[in-house]
Amino acid sequence: MPAAGRGERLGPGAPKALRELGGVPLLVHAVRALTRSRAVGLVVVAAPADGVAEVVALLDGHGLEGKDIRVVAGGATRQESVRLGLAAIPAEVGIVLVHDAARPLVPVEVVDAVASAVRAGAEAVVPAVPLADTVKRVEPVRGGPEPVLDTPDRATLRAVQTPQGFRREALAEVHAKALAEESAGDAGALPPVTDDAGLVERFGGRVVVVPGHEEAFKVTRPLDLVLAEAVLARRRAADAY
Ligand code: C5P
Repeated sequence: MPAAGRGERLGPGAPKALRELGGVPLLVHAVRALTRSRAVGLVVVAAPADGVAEVVALLDGHGLEGKDIRVVAGGATRQESVRLGLAAIPAEVGIVLVHDAARPLVPVEVVDAVASAVRAGAEAVVPAVPLADTVKRVEPVRGGPEPVLDTPDRATLRAVQTPQGFRREALAEVHAKALAEESAGDAGALPPVTDDAGLVERFGGRVVVVPGHEEAFKVTRPLDLVLAEAVLARRRAADAY
């Protein structure tokens, strides 16, 4: 679980993973969401490098006792945080899910569906939902107006969520290749990779999509926190969540 981001788009304050939702840090919600799945035996959290002790203390205090949870120092980018997390997973683990700490409310059904699809033989699996908005590609101009290049057919587009699931060797291999590319200074001309499945695609691997869920949204901007609070309140009213 990469959880080392600053969360600057949320506004000033603590690192995003430590912001609270219903009185509980986002990170704790996200870890609980994974441990609810019987497919998950171990959670490795990549914490802010200067916040490892704080994250360990936090996870000790929120009813996660008895779960196998390890905390490592994350990196300067999401990709680096994932790579450092992967390195801390025991060799015998064959299937890995990568889940953003910033998606605290992912339903257990999504976690199970992703894990099952990898178990059934897929190399890389992403949960995704159709788009409500029409999407345009533009020539970015700071402050705009921005010329439109084209409009992809919305029916072929999906908004991708996490957890993303992988055969462990496949994920480790593309992260190692990306690191080698960066060290050689070769990555500059390529668009940035913003998810792990994107790395698999870059190196020619096959990625499949399974249905995601609207409640697996990423908490990025202040309005997302308002929505997350509302979803949580509804769940708490419906059961002893
Ligand atoms: O920035 P973005 O919202 O795409 O971040 C997605 C996830 O990656 C978040 O859970 C964030 O904490 C994590 N991240 C990280 N290390 C970084 C930057 C982001 O673990 N250096």
